[in-house]
Amino acid sequence: MAKLKAAILGATGMVGQRFISLLEDHPWFEVAVVAASPRSAGKTYEEAVGDRWKIDLPMPEAVKKLVVMNVNDVEAVASKVDFCFSAVDMSKDEIRAIEEAYAKTETPVVSNNSAHRWTPDVPMIVPEINAAHTDVIQYQKKRLGTTRGFIAVKPNCSIQAYAPVLTAWKEFEPYEVVVSTYQAISGAGKTFREWPEMEGNIIPFISGEEEKSEKEPLRLWGKIENGVIVPAEGPVITSQCIRVPVLNGHTASVFVKLKNKATKEQLIEKMVNFSGEPQKLGLPSAPKQFIQYLEEDNRPQVTLDVNYERGMGVSVGRLREDTVYDWKFVGLAHNTLRGAAGGAVLCAELLKAQGFIEAK
Ligand SMILES: NC(=O)c1ccc[n+]([C@@H]2O[C@H](COP(=O)([O-])OP(=O)(O)OC[C@H]3O[C@@H](n4cnc5c(N)ncnc54)[C@H](OP(=O)(O)O)[C@@H]3O)[C@@H](O)[C@H]2O)c1
Repeated sequence: MAKLKAAILGATGMVGQRFISLLEDHPWFEVAVVAASPRSAGKTYEEAVGDRWKIDLPMPEAVKKLVVMNVNDVEAVASKVDFCFSAVDMSKDEIRAIEEAYAKTETPVVSNNSAHRWTPDVPMIVPEINAAHTDVIQYQKKRLGTTRGFIAVKPNCSIQAYAPVLTAWKEFEPYEVVVSTYQAISGAGKTFREWPEMEGNIIPFISGEEEKSEKEPLRLWGKIENGVIVPAEGPVITSQCIRVPVLNGHTASVFVKLKNKATKEQLIEKMVNFSGEPQKLGLPSAPKQFIQYLEEDNRPQVTLDVNYERGMGVSVGRLREDTVYDWKFVGLAHNTLRGAAGGAVLCAELLKAQGFIEAK
């Protein structure tokens, strides 16, 4: 079977580089176009990235000599590919417009950006949690006037360390959740070389992040009604998001109240056995076990656990009863793999398996 041709919009950035690295030798997809800003257009990928390569693996040979195209040349890029991944850094309005422009050329867009996360007929997907939300695509296509073009997005990186756990505990009905996140600098597209002030430092502010951490899980747990996704009403989530001196890996410290009583053994059993469509369909990037539970008191640790299941799994530890809330735990997920490019690749695999992405 011929591989589907993908364009990476924003290919020179941190998330774009992750896509390039993840798609090297992907069984279903190949990178046919790399696109970035007009500053990079016309250069080879290797020249355009220069000393900005941020991935701990070498740049794949197959992309080094590809000539970077301008993201804004929508027709030219779209004519060469079956679908695209989007990780551009532009204003929200610009991103909304350009992703729609790609969809209207009948090119599906799987996006990392937040611009379309609240567009009512755009599915925001964590494939293990809400694969059925792709049903809303038929209504989006009607609005856009397309037959195969649409936009699908993945949620923010901060929620990946706790939203899957709360989903696994659905039958115990979590109703109040307090989260503090400890977020890596790669979440801002940075390394320590580019952000030396972060060494030995903590910054108690990440613009827009707390609202995303509180609201986006509710959209994942929502329902399709009248052609749009209606977010769930609970559990209510309050959060503080803090930047910490870590390169990769967002940690979350979480307190939960549950309507229904549960034992520690039941909560662990639900977590470690939680799975969804990616596992059922055997998608190439699916973790075999989505959530692992670590018994040691000093786990999960970023250095030991961030690459669990090739960065696509969630590590949880320190589950114990709380004196104010019912339970508390600590979760960890890789922010540029599960939380960004890896989550988007898994989403594209789901869309291909469901027949939404095909060869043009
Ligand atoms: N880092 C993460 O963990 C993470 C997680 C989830 C979502 N995101 C989101 O993903 C997007 C990319 O993040 P990043 O960290 O990869 O950013 P980044 O490293 O700054 O990369 C930005 C990319 O966008 C391109 N670009 C910038 N201005 C442009 C313009 N005016 N027109 C066309 N292309 C333009 C850049 O091309 P040049 O190289 O030519 O400038 C580069 O390819 C952002 O919206 C971010 O919020 C990031």
